[in-house]
Amino acid sequence: MEIGISKENVNKVGDILQKVLSNQHVLYQKLRNFHWNVTGKEFIELHKFFEDSYNSLSDDIDVVAERIRSLGLNAKGTMAEYLELADLKESPGKYPDAGSMTKELLNNNELLIVQLRESSNLCGDLGDSGNEDVLIGLMENHEKQAWMLRSMT
Ligand SMILES: [Fe+2]
Repeated sequence: MEIGISKENVNKVGDILQKVLSNQHVLYQKLRNFHWNVTGKEFIELHKFFEDSYNSLSDDIDVVAERIRSLGLNAKGTMAEYLELADLKESPGKYPDAGSMTKELLNNNELLIVQLRESSNLCGDLGDSGNEDVLIGLMENHEKQAWMLRSMT
């Protein structure tokens, strides 16, 4: 395979994308959890918002996995690998109130914005402008999510 990026750099970009994919899966499952378990006066609004959010994240997840495949690498596809690689944390057995859910999601989105900003720059430095562009697009999606969550809290 010859796409104008050294094998070493392809592997580095692959590692960056696998981390993004892992964090996306933790956030995706968290959104489903919150969609199911949210309670309170804003139930319908948040129940729907969380559903819209995980559906849009599902599209992003597929993009990242297929970008990894386009580099000639396997896309990690197991929960065990995601949980090992992800920075986002889960809280098994805990069912936060609606306000804590939106705060936690805001926090997670901001962490991903910072990480995607750094990762996109790194892809540029590694000569992979395609994945730099993809990660900038993802960052913009999380910036919008963060804005909406911030407006709710
Ligand atoms: Fe549902």
